[in-house]
Amino acid sequence: MRTVVVTGAATGIGRAVAESFHAAGDRVVLTGRRRELLGTAASELGGAAKAVTFDAADAAAVTAALQELPERVDVLVNNAGGNTDFDRDAPVTLADTAAAWRANLDANLLSAVLVTTALRDRLAPGASVVNIGSIAADKGAGSYGAAKAGLASWTVDLAGQLGPHDVTVNTVAPGYVADTEFFRDKLDDDRRRSLVDSALTRRPSRPHDIAAAVAFLAGPGARQITGQMIAVNGGEHTTR
Ligand SMILES: NC(=O)c1ccc[n+]([C@@H]2O[C@H](COP(=O)([O-])OP(=O)(O)OC[C@H]3O[C@@H](n4cnc5c(N)ncnc54)[C@H](OP(=O)(O)O)[C@@H]3O)[C@@H](O)[C@H]2O)c1
Repeated sequence: MRTVVVTGAATGIGRAVAESFHAAGDRVVLTGRRRELLGTAASELGGAAKAVTFDAADAAAVTAALQELPERVDVLVNNAGGNTDFDRDAPVTLADTAAAWRANLDANLLSAVLVTTALRDRLAPGASVVNIGSIAADKGAGSYGAAKAGLASWTVDLAGQLGPHDVTVNTVAPGYVADTEFFRDKLDDDRRRSLVDSALTRRPSRPHDIAAAVAFLAGPGARQITGQMIAVNGGEHTTR
């Protein structure tokens, strides 16, 4: 039985990722900030699922959570994040701009760096780290896209460090994924339609589409895939 840690696992993509590993018979640790929601998600999974509540972008909170996190980790999915601009007013002052950029860098880049660094010595030989990036890293989206581009860059660096220890590190970069809390209440019908129309498949991704790619990268067929950014976006942005 593998032990899998999924950050941001109470909702959306993280929840689907946790469900898919749990269905495969793995022991899953779900993390996030909202204790009650996380507890409900873990108890709905049942069996070998556990909830650990902490803010992945807070170094002290991650350190404190270490005692509740498993001693040996086979799969780490750094999924916690989102576009923090959706939770803030548009910046007016330069200080607002600095705070807005730091919020996205903290939520999407530092969160993965802190949790991975904290668990680094617990990653078993044969382990996989999968980061959840975004199409925004390639298409642009202010500080959010820049943070996800940073995550993709750091993926390459970390893959080089952990490769000799038989640990793979990859990023899955989704396009528009429906059935998540990502957009808060900011996605109107026109914008939703234009996102769907820009996918070659003419449908939104669903959390299970992303979970399937994560499961593959964490599986035995992907041991020679590392340092990569794998796009799961219905062809909205194509790589060659
Ligand atoms: N939905 C899309 O269209 C889309 C597209 C591309 C990439 N993504 C990426 O996919 C990932 C998952 O997002 P989602 O779409 O599933 O949206 P979501 O439903 O909002 O899920 C994000 C989860 O991350 C948790 N989280 C956020 N910041 C955290 C922190 N500092 N510490 C711990 N947990 C944190 C949230 O729970 P708490 O608030 O309780 O902590 C939430 O459960 C994100 O990295 C996002 O950037 C999403």
